[in-house]
Amino acid sequence: MLLPNGIRHLPGYLDHPAQEALVEAIRAVVAEAPLYTPVMPGTGKEMSVRMTNCGSLGWVTDKQRGYRYQSTHPVTGHPWPAMPQQLLDLWGDIAGYEKSPEACLVNFYGDDASMGLHQDRDEQDLKAPVLSVSLGNTCLFRVGGLNRNDRTLSFKLASGDIVVLGGEGRLCFHGVDRIYPATSTLLKNGGRINLTLRRVQP
Ligand code: SIN
Ligand code: FE2
Repeated sequence: MLLPNGIRHLPGYLDHPAQEALVEAIRAVVAEAPLYTPVMPGTGKEMSVRMTNCGSLGWVTDKQRGYRYQSTHPVTGHPWPAMPQQLLDLWGDIAGYEKSPEACLVNFYGDDASMGLHQDRDEQDLKAPVLSVSLGNTCLFRVGGLNRNDRTLSFKLASGDIVVLGGEGRLCFHGVDRIYPATSTLLKNGGRINLTLRRVQP
């Protein structure tokens, strides 16, 4: 399968112990910064994915103010928890970018959740890649081109897989069509966690 230039799929990048350790770290993040249900700008429609963040900035969306980064959790008002060292190390090993990531968006997909086709374009620094980590149940990931109507291709992302959206592929449309229930035992209650590491400021 030929992915668009700049998009890399690294299947099974994280071994089982590394996945377990990352889930533990994310549990600690979620204990401090609870998952909440984001809503779309304008319509106020709820997304099926629940979200939180770690790092100095977090990506949020609401009806009134839309998509943006901010330094505090929208429900608790507290600063986001620090980014776990494993994620900083992963960025150092893969991103090929001198500055560290400022935001890690934590997406939790129940087995019925999905995410529509979109671009990650709320960052000021588009030279840095977005690095995406999959944990738990397998999903069907879809990636297209730079225009919404470009042809898309889809492939499965399993627990431990990493996707890099960088270079010419940094602004490619992408989304998650579906989750395949019971395809992993990593998360006791099922579902899927996706972590995306982003550099926001130049
Ligand atoms: C995202 O684009 O924010 C999430 C991608 C994924 O869940 O794999
Ligand atoms: Fe995205």
